[in-house]
Amino acid sequence: MRYCLGIESTAHTFGAAVVTVDGEILSNEKEMFATLSGGMIPNEVADHHRKVKDRVIERALQQAGIDISVVDLVSYSHGPGLPPSLLVGMECAKELHDKYGLTVIGANHALAHLTIGSLVCKVVDPVYVYVSGVNTQVIALAGNRYRIFGETLDVGLGNALDKFGRAIGLGFPAGPEIENLAQEGSYVELPYVVKGMDVSFAGLVTKAQQLFSKGVSKEDLCYSMQEVCFAMLAEVTERAVAHTEKKDVLLIGGVAANKRLCTILDVMCTARKARFHAAPLKYAGDQAAMIAWQGVLNYLGGKRLETFEFYPHERIDEIDVVW
Ligand code: ATP
Ligand code: FE2
Repeated sequence: MRYCLGIESTAHTFGAAVVTVDGEILSNEKEMFATLSGGMIPNEVADHHRKVKDRVIERALQQAGIDISVVDLVSYSHGPGLPPSLLVGMECAKELHDKYGLTVIGANHALAHLTIGSLVCKVVDPVYVYVSGVNTQVIALAGNRYRIFGETLDVGLGNALDKFGRAIGLGFPAGPEIENLAQEGSYVELPYVVKGMDVSFAGLVTKAQQLFSKGVSKEDLCYSMQEVCFAMLAEVTERAVAHTEKKDVLLIGGVAANKRLCTILDVMCTARKARFHAAPLKYAGDQAAMIAWQGVLNYLGGKRLETFEFYPHERIDEIDVVW
């Protein structure tokens, strides 16, 4: 076995990528569904994916310099995600199976974020801080399962930033603009909510919106949102590091783009004598190289596809780690 073609379709991104069995990423193509409003209507997203899928796969093969006939394995993201989008990825894999007799395997999208991070950053067994739009989880391997040590009790950090950004008139996604505005701001108090090992952002977003309508500046609110949200996340991560005694922390997901978050986690890690790593941006957010790589790991670990299915709510801690 040499080449795995990965297909990503869980949310707004349709991606296709070719990765070798040794973890060399030969291509990583994608197209993203976008609207001015920033809203995602599941059926519209699925229509977008159907429209672009053939050309994205074609580009991924071309970029890798291989023909579909030499692909050994097709890996599709089987969840979690929006059912209409998941269906497109699965249908794609099934089509390739029916047409070319290719072997197919499914991969969990969240897990794939972790394993591609480890691959490209060359980090073995870290505490993962996974912060995307929808997800905010602190995860580490314990035995043969990934265990979620802490997570958001309501919205993901990216969505919290986006929601607040929309309320103060920023474009979507708001994360990068918030980061810029924050550089000119100073601190106003916002609710810091850590419950046990979990965090909550919803109340903080509401409070920030209220303060905005009372005239507090965008800059001060952006600065304070970042400081409070990131400190909450660092507290939980620090406790996970202390508990697991792991020596590395790896930041993944779209919010990994944020420099201030990286600095805060880096400072915490240094104090704990752990090393901090952030996945490079092109591998931090949604893309298909991670699905291809997770497919390779699953297959080499002995997993096989039994039926073509998808799992909109599959959690990372339900999966046996066989690699
Ligand atoms: P998933 O399905 O894994 O949850 P997603 O589409 O929700 O993926 P990503 O693509 O991983 O999320 O990340 C998008 C999020 O990252 C958006 O909410 C965006 O605001 C946020 N983001 C991007 N750049 C920055 C930044 N510089 N600072 C803070 N947040 C950022
Ligand atoms: Fe994702």
